[in-house]
Amino acid sequence: MKKVILSGSTATGDLTIGNYIGAIGNWKNLQTEYDCFYMVADLHALTVKQDPKVLRERRLSFFAQYIALGLDPEKNTLFMQSDVHQHAELSWVLTCLTPMGFLNRMTQFKDKSAQHAKNINAGLYTYPILMAADILLYRADLVPVGEDQKQHLELCRDIVGFFDHNYGEGILKLPEPYIGKQGARIMSLQDPTRKMSKSDENPKSFVSILDPLKKIQKKIKGAVTDSGSEIIFNPEVNPGISNLITIYSSFSGKAISQIEKEYAGKMYGHLKVDLADLVCATLDPVQKKYNELMNDQSALVQFMSAGALAASERAQKTLNDVYCAVGIR
Ligand code: TYM
Repeated sequence: MKKVILSGSTATGDLTIGNYIGAIGNWKNLQTEYDCFYMVADLHALTVKQDPKVLRERRLSFFAQYIALGLDPEKNTLFMQSDVHQHAELSWVLTCLTPMGFLNRMTQFKDKSAQHAKNINAGLYTYPILMAADILLYRADLVPVGEDQKQHLELCRDIVGFFDHNYGEGILKLPEPYIGKQGARIMSLQDPTRKMSKSDENPKSFVSILDPLKKIQKKIKGAVTDSGSEIIFNPEVNPGISNLITIYSSFSGKAISQIEKEYAGKMYGHLKVDLADLVCATLDPVQKKYNELMNDQSALVQFMSAGALAASERAQKTLNDVYCAVGIR
């Protein structure tokens, strides 16, 4: 029996090359070795204010981008979180087990409530519990994520501990994070001390998967770099150029040391030009595939309903076990 993977991306903003390098690229690499469940986390998107029309379009667009980026709907269970009602149900049970003190520690809650000061809703606060439910429903062994989700994964493991303590071991499975050695934190192109974020207000700070190629060229060539001039990987000293080297390495498959050698004695501009071409060459076929999928949405809708069915089946088994354990069945 293959081990199980669950992961997802929240349907907010535009999927970026940070999401690809830190998460979706790894999901793709793991899709033959594991039994993979990848979802579009649309319920999570409601924690920040959404225009319903835009969210409706974005759900479908993210789903199509997953496939265009190489997630094979025949090999993986690709689904929409809200199509599997068990997520919200398990989340409630886990909410009743999670001490508020544990949620108070979540740095993403602190960051997001500063960012959305006028909408600090309870969902923003309990969001990591829903994320734990996402993972635990599938009895996932492994959760491939970028660095920023590590704390949420730790909380998920704590929640398994609370559940085991109250209701006995073996009902929920303790998941392990899978964080790539490289590229787990791609930085903003405008401020390389901050994470590249798909909901950043400044679109120059990220390259989105669907950006027109001309725009990608502009954004990469306009990336803020450091005052030095040597192309050396040292994020403490040269965060800007180090970030570009990481992106280059991820897209080319070349080791960082090899890139440093190839660019010894060259200027930052040389690397930027080559990186812009490389990213465009990689995303061009992805965008073509995406357009094909969006032009025939019937295939997408079919994949989505098949995914929802397969995901619900597995999720319901866990939910039954949990309901029995807590005494409501
Ligand atoms: P989200 O949508 O913010 O990001 C999706 C994935 O992309 C990774 N990521 C990055 N990796 C490297 N560099 C970056 N700059 C970067 N930005 C984002 C994230 O770490 C993530 O792996 N809460 C999650 C979605 C989610 C989820 C889950 C994930 C909901 N339920 C269950 C795993 C398991 C989120 O908002 O990711």
